[in-house]
Amino acid sequence: MLADLVKRSQPLASDAKLLVLGGGYSGRCLASLARSMGTPVLCTRRSLDSDEADLLFDSAGEDHLDPDALRGVTHLVCTIPPDREGNDPVLSKLLGTLRSLPLRWAGYLSTTGIYGDRQGGWVSEQDDPAPKLDRSIRRLNCEQAWLHSGLPIQILRLPGIYGPGRSVLNGLQQGRARLIEKPDQVFCRIHVEDIAGACWHLMHRAEQAPDPSMDNWTVVNVVDDLPAPTTDLLRHAAALLGCALPPLEQFDQIVESMSPMAQTFWSENRRVSNHRLCQELGYGLLHPNYRVGLQDCLDQDKLNPTDLRSPPRSTNG
Ligand SMILES: NC(=O)c1ccc[n+]([C@@H]2O[C@H](COP(=O)([O-])OP(=O)(O)OC[C@H]3O[C@@H](n4cnc5c(N)ncnc54)[C@H](OP(=O)(O)O)[C@@H]3O)[C@@H](O)[C@H]2O)c1
Repeated sequence: MLADLVKRSQPLASDAKLLVLGGGYSGRCLASLARSMGTPVLCTRRSLDSDEADLLFDSAGEDHLDPDALRGVTHLVCTIPPDREGNDPVLSKLLGTLRSLPLRWAGYLSTTGIYGDRQGGWVSEQDDPAPKLDRSIRRLNCEQAWLHSGLPIQILRLPGIYGPGRSVLNGLQQGRARLIEKPDQVFCRIHVEDIAGACWHLMHRAEQAPDPSMDNWTVVNVVDDLPAPTTDLLRHAAALLGCALPPLEQFDQIVESMSPMAQTFWSENRRVSNHRLCQELGYGLLHPNYRVGLQDCLDQDKLNPTDLRSPPRSTNG
């Protein structure tokens, strides 16, 4: 729960001000943490009617963010995905404005998809990216643009994101879940609160002790400890809910009938290491594996049943 994250987090300096570019699922979780820690936050959304929309930013629109509205921003996190051409919508429209801010830390949420298929092997930040899917190639292009932006950037590579209102529990409850078995296939994941917690930890680290070896840490995987098959998650989730599992399906027998998007999701198999985040940089995961994380989702979904109205999401970014 966010309250647990708040309890173990330290405040940023009193002049810190956070800009969240894209107050979606992860962005709003980070914004809640920051507000609870007493740091002022500005969240952009594409419509001012959306929850927690402090500022309007839609790269497809004509309105530009007013630089005056961003005065004093010291930290930023960008959650906005690449555009169809593989360009970064924020850098295309706002780089000049961002460069004029007194930024001390900037985080860009990317995906572990840039590692490509590793046939189930472990992969770390030291391995060269090898994206095969178009969306991962676009993502790597944006990572490069952020790395060359001249901003104090740290790239956070994320696997499938889950959390309250967006987990296999909801898939099972809504009858959307499929129990698909593919031998030796695993997926990595991260609870949304650990994305917020990791961002906060990295901001804090940069604030407390700008480290000369920081350059080694411009890229950080933010994943939990336990890559696992989706069948393990579904079985665990069904036990937590006390409900029946959907029928078991063998991947080979249904792959042809899957959507092209679903096929790409199953076409890559890797175990992503969090050694840098958790050992070198000292972040302690709040939800180190899906068992802890799903229990938390169950508890929070009970407290906030409206979250269940969140739209279903892909788990692979
Ligand atoms: N979902 C996953 O499992 C997963 C896995 C790995 C990586 N990722 C990546 O991690 C990041 C955070 O994920 P998330 O699930 O928190 O994302 P999310 O809920 O979809 O939020 C994305 C945010 O980007 C904003 N946005 C999208 N297109 C925009 C545009 N053209 N101009 C301005 N704003 C735009 C959205 O605006 P509105 O608030 O107005 O909608 C939203 O606030 C994303 O880049 C995502 O692709 C996701």
